[in-house]
Amino acid sequence: MINLFKANLDSQYNIIKEVAKGQFNWRVICQKDPWMQGVDWDIQWTDTAPSIDKFSKIKPYQKINHFPAMFQIARKNYLAKNLKKMQKNFKDDYKFFPKTWLLPQDLSELKQIIAQNSQRSIKQVYIVKPESLSQGKGIFITKRVDQIDPTEHLVVQKYLKYPYLIDGLKFDLRIYVLVTNVQPLRIFIHKEGLARFASEQYQHKSYSNPFIHLTNYAINKDNQNFTSDQNGETGHKRSLKSVYQTLQKDGIDIEKLQDRIDDIIVKTLISIQPDLVHNYRTCQPGDQFNNMCFEILGFDIILNKKGVPQLLEVNHAPSFNDDTNLDRIVKSQLLTDTFRLLNVTLPEKNKVLEQIRLQTEQRIIGSIKITKQQHLSQKIDIYLERLRERDNYEFENLGGYRVIYPAYIKDSNMIDQEKMIKYQQFLDCAKKYTMDIKIAKDEESKVQVKQTLIKTVKPELDSIKKVIPEKLRRNISTQSYKNLADFLNKKSQIQLALTKNYENNTPKRGQILSCQNIDLTSASKIKFQDLSISPSHQDNPQSPEFFQENGSIESSQHQDFMTNFTNPKNVKLNL
Ligand SMILES: Nc1ncnc2c1ncn2[C@@H]1O[C@H](COP(=O)(O)OP(=O)(O)O)[C@@H](O)[C@H]1O
Ligand SMILES: [Mg+2]
Repeated sequence: MINLFKANLDSQYNIIKEVAKGQFNWRVICQKDPWMQGVDWDIQWTDTAPSIDKFSKIKPYQKINHFPAMFQIARKNYLAKNLKKMQKNFKDDYKFFPKTWLLPQDLSELKQIIAQNSQRSIKQVYIVKPESLSQGKGIFITKRVDQIDPTEHLVVQKYLKYPYLIDGLKFDLRIYVLVTNVQPLRIFIHKEGLARFASEQYQHKSYSNPFIHLTNYAINKDNQNFTSDQNGETGHKRSLKSVYQTLQKDGIDIEKLQDRIDDIIVKTLISIQPDLVHNYRTCQPGDQFNNMCFEILGFDIILNKKGVPQLLEVNHAPSFNDDTNLDRIVKSQLLTDTFRLLNVTLPEKNKVLEQIRLQTEQRIIGSIKITKQQHLSQKIDIYLERLRERDNYEFENLGGYRVIYPAYIKDSNMIDQEKMIKYQQFLDCAKKYTMDIKIAKDEESKVQVKQTLIKTVKPELDSIKKVIPEKLRRNISTQSYKNLADFLNKKSQIQLALTKNYENNTPKRGQILSCQNIDLTSASKIKFQDLSISPSHQDNPQSPEFFQENGSIESSQHQDFMTNFTNPKNVKLNL
């Protein structure tokens, strides 16, 4: 029987299609832009994150493999910016990320540090990375950062000179992480992953030799020394499991190492959680379940010589190449476990559709029979029930995954309250930053809107004012408008008021004509979108208010800009 479940897999990686067909029997289609082509789908995979407007078009039963704004950790400059803001407040908790400078803005700070180091004869080595490339492209290691082109946009990082070595080789870990929900945040880590090895013996020199200092597979595969075995136990690409075994033999406490890695992942995602929520809600203000996106992230982790993990970067499009047998084993398991955990099936889709139908029906009938409060509490009940159902399903279908947020007490299904209280502090801090940025942006748009209004609307109002009789002008007062539509509405009222007023009792009919001749529609040429005002959740009647209590950004009064010019709104409003 043909499966009706449609997977749109716009990916260069065959293994994704193989798993979708072989393990799940999905009907695979490969459209670049299914929205444009009018093609329906149930799950979609794209190698690069879609634009924000695409996220807004996703239907409640569909799922896509990216969250809007995940670039906030998946691009090197944004990751550094977000972790640095947390480091400012929680120095010890966020010391898992090497000291980083963003050029050109941090250039003077960096120069100062270089000067201090040279005074103390400290020879620091730096690794310089392009902001948004991957696979080791454009990376170089240098002691002379003062020679870098100061106009280029680069990420400069303290080079970790003493990494943990296995067989004398530098390596890093590719840890696979799945995010299924941003509010409440839900993060899973997969037990399998990869360790990528440099292909030449490590030494504190020859910094221009990438086979010694960079551990990317894309680089080392081109070295003639490169080897790999069937099970990933030796050579330059190994399984995470086998490297953990080697480390354990070396005396590293693996449980502690895993806890530290979990902690790095959670703290990194927490640093942008409010932003993820805000963006998700902006794209999908009516969606209560935050169920439409998922994302597999590749965390690159390196160990220092004591075995303490450090975060290098986060990839939101980790490679799904299946060059080696090990790749095939690890990645097909990862994909199988992911798709199963997501519970993307036809019955589930039908359940969502049925729920929407019921809600619409209730909205129509409910508006007569139940109060707003009852409606909200019903909504919360449905939401909590759905979350419970989802949690239960996930616990029973973890495969190789383990939940790392919310934090659970090891081998139990009890929440680790102590850890969660700690994480809440970080969340609060991240939320404050997001709010501050939003307020600053709102201020900026207020100024923009005001300027546009003054430029385009004020001359018109001035001419209207001229034709208003003196006694009516006394009623004129300074007013504020909530938005442009409000303003335009008032304007038509003025027009009506003026016209009526003059028709009824004014002797100066000539002036009526000049008033009517004013082009009152020209103000509508100002488009709200052009003024870069983001949609407000508060204004959206579908937005469930209870989200605003926990993590989501309250819409500030960003549309409540003051128009300080005289407003003849009070003229004959009794009409
Ligand atoms: N701060 C660092 N100290 C030491 N080695 C690093 C550092 N940053 C990156 N590397 C090495 O460079 C490689 C590539 O860096 P990464 O940040 O992962 O960029 P890319 O996106 O190009 O993979 C890493 O896999 C690691 O081997
Ligand atoms: Mg990398």
